[in-house]
Amino acid sequence: MTKQPIEYTGKYTSLTREDIIEEVRARLSKKRFEHVLRVELTALELAEKYDIDREKSSIAALLHDVAKEEPDSEMRDLVISENLDLDLLQFGSQIWHAPVGAVQARRDFEITDEEILTAITYHTVGAPEMTGVEKVVFVADYIEPGRDFDGVKKARKLAEKSLDKVIKLKIRDTIVDLIERKKKIYPKAIDSYNAWIPK
Ligand SMILES: [Fe+2]
Ligand SMILES: [Fe+2]
Repeated sequence: MTKQPIEYTGKYTSLTREDIIEEVRARLSKKRFEHVLRVELTALELAEKYDIDREKSSIAALLHDVAKEEPDSEMRDLVISENLDLDLLQFGSQIWHAPVGAVQARRDFEITDEEILTAITYHTVGAPEMTGVEKVVFVADYIEPGRDFDGVKKARKLAEKSLDKVIKLKIRDTIVDLIERKKKIYPKAIDSYNAWIPK
């Protein structure tokens, strides 16, 4: 058997890494599932490099997109029943899947560790202040080897030097892209922008 990149201690969930992978595989298309696996491997590398908890990074990375293919109606119901930010309802699944994923991680995967849950919640728009695991997942989702956008090479290079620099790049580029495409901007994305970007 090939060696697994990490073995869980049981501290954060009684599920094994393989259990989580199988459940995530069942919920996602092949393409997105493969993205998730690449995000996890990237997260493990970054965690190792920056001395951040690898087990928590792995769990959060594997679960970050767990809600991504949930029907909109299901996500909308969870936003309301779980008392999530009601501003969310002005937006769409692109924004919902992150906080809803954290709800599912708690409900379906027994995750109670707050940092794992917030890493899932913040993975799309970031947050004004971010912890190590939150940063790792946010950056890994942006630079995993399957990503192909203008500037991805630069982002990967920057990630060798500083997670914070990649975070700034992702937050800024996300806002610029939304403006260029004349899309609405979720207020929490602006909060992240205001905290990270202006000099
Ligand atoms: Fe996502
Ligand atoms: Fe993702």
